[in-house]
Amino acid sequence: MKIILTKDYQDMSRKAANIISAQVILKPDSVLGLATGATPVGIYRQLADWYRKGDLDFSCATTVNLDEYYGLSPEDEQSYHYFMEKHFFSKVNLRPEKHFLPDGTNPDGDAECARYEAQIDSLGGIDLQLLGLGHNGHIGFNEPSDAFAGSVHLVDLAGRTIEANKRFFPSAAAVPRQAYTMGVRTILRAKKILLAVSGEDKAQALYQTVKGAICPKVPASVLQLHPDVVVVADEAAAHKLAGGSF
Ligand code: F6R
Repeated sequence: MKIILTKDYQDMSRKAANIISAQVILKPDSVLGLATGATPVGIYRQLADWYRKGDLDFSCATTVNLDEYYGLSPEDEQSYHYFMEKHFFSKVNLRPEKHFLPDGTNPDGDAECARYEAQIDSLGGIDLQLLGLGHNGHIGFNEPSDAFAGSVHLVDLAGRTIEANKRFFPSAAAVPRQAYTMGVRTILRAKKILLAVSGEDKAQALYQTVKGAICPKVPASVLQLHPDVVVVADEAAAHKLAGGSF
């Protein structure tokens, strides 16, 4: 793993955006795997800014998102469809028919998982996957468990994840209990992975991800097995690490 240490959230966002930007410049028809949550908001803001200034062109790119809440429609303000539209899709020139997310409204879990996995395969896989890190070490919604889940699946959200995500909902009770998510195998098949991490509250999870044993109780630790992972972390998140390459 390559660790890039940054000063703060803004610096982390800029450096991570630089890596995505380089990917799109080098390969304009890249398939970008995207994440939601608080961490990537600054990255999307920076990318949109460079697009506005004429430095970036997303017209040939395709995007696939990690996850979506079960039961939420794209019009729901708490859905990840809505988040992506608000923070990124509406701000750049990605073609609407070329961004993909799991369909939270499909009640048939097996069918939706198979459909979304096939969708990703049909695009030829992911060139660069952006990830955030959960407090419990989750990536996508791959929650701590006894075994790594392989492909796209419907997952029961952990209590800690519901707690962490209630800030986006009127109350914890309003947070959906399930979500569709890419599995660990889907994520590991990406050619390159960019893990963005900010804040002291992620320091322990980041330490376990980078330095801990590879184990499904800390799903992100599996990233140690991938040959091309870049972690961009701010000082607060990285203070338990020594720095440099791991
Ligand atoms: C979001 C996702 C999650 C988040 C993680 C961190 O698509 O897959 O794994 O990346 O929960 O969330 P934030 O950035 O809000 O701390």
